[in-house]
Amino acid sequence: MENLISLVNKLQRACTALGDHGDQSALPTLWDSLPSIAVVGGQSSGKSSVLESIVGKDFLPRGSGIVTRRPLVLQLHKVDEGREYAEFLHLPRKRFTDFAAVRKEISDETDRETGRSKQISSVPIHLSIYSPNVVNLTMIDLPGLTKVAVEGQPDSIVQDIENMVRSFIEKPNCIILAISPANQDLATSDAIKISREVDPKGERTFGVLTKIDLMDKGTNAVDILEGKSYKLQFPWIGVVNRSQADINKSVDMIAARRREREYFANTPEYRHLAHRMGSEHLGKMLSKHLETVIKSRIPGLQSLINKTIIELETELSRLGKPIATDAGGKQHMVMEISRDFDQIFKEHLDGIRSGGEKIY
Ligand code: GDP
Ligand code: NA
Ligand code: MG
Repeated sequence: MENLISLVNKLQRACTALGDHGDQSALPTLWDSLPSIAVVGGQSSGKSSVLESIVGKDFLPRGSGIVTRRPLVLQLHKVDEGREYAEFLHLPRKRFTDFAAVRKEISDETDRETGRSKQISSVPIHLSIYSPNVVNLTMIDLPGLTKVAVEGQPDSIVQDIENMVRSFIEKPNCIILAISPANQDLATSDAIKISREVDPKGERTFGVLTKIDLMDKGTNAVDILEGKSYKLQFPWIGVVNRSQADINKSVDMIAARRREREYFANTPEYRHLAHRMGSEHLGKMLSKHLETVIKSRIPGLQSLINKTIIELETELSRLGKPIATDAGGKQHMVMEISRDFDQIFKEHLDGIRSGGEKIY
């Protein structure tokens, strides 16, 4: 049985093919209505590191300045066996097994859209990773919030990034992964500042605290991790990512995860929290949460899909049914998804009626 997360993955890809990247002003589009997880935080807060440790691979472009300039829709697909590979929506049927090449393609595809001008664009890049070592999960990596433009970038970029991030996270269907570094005052966290604006009660924000290993001696993050400093509906999760020195030495992700687990288990202050800390726990919890949210949205999604199909059909008949053209292909894609959706909807009805399992 196909799972709900892969189905929503398909819908997201269909939206991009149809040119639907959401709408800031008018009625919500199908894209706006798909539950998603957006990663937000200040520059260098550890966003890329968190994403990479959830995936267990390094594949994201690095460097100083504003590296992420387009949203990256990262879809993780758990497969039973076989070699890990990655695929881009804009390069169908090309399988990447070299993750350094994935990194390069993300940069190149960013430049293709933004014309190397160091501008930002809200047209997403879609990357799928197939692996036996991932959980089914979709996350959107967004440009890091910043306070100053760097050379070659217009001053407006600071505000442009903030507006783009806000346009994603203000959607009620967006789950916010708010990344804050533990070695800075939480009151100054860009992630908390912007998520509080759109989700003041913390009902769809997951707080992730990075760089716990870099805190000043004599201080610790227990109050934050126990939800006493800034309360969110979901528990805070602490992570310890690879340091810059680890990255330079190419410490592998598996070793890094093991070290992270040991860090929480062996530090007296954190031992009582160790079972719900770390990137591995974060990935599993987000996957389950995303599935629960999708389940609860099934009826609304179904009617939106039907509406999208009707709109497509109207457009096609206006054009005089050029079925072999691009538009015909898009219609076919949405129809196929709609069929899958009906099937999965039936399979999950029981699950919806009986309520979800406890996951936090
Ligand atoms: P981004 O700009 O938010 O994507 O941040 P990065 O993930 O690129 O991280 C910025 C820098 O902080 C890199 O040098 C990372 O190695 C380092 N870093 C991130 N998280 C941690 C952590 O938990 N511990 C340590 N020691 N370094 C970290
Ligand atoms: Na921050
Ligand atoms: Mg980054």
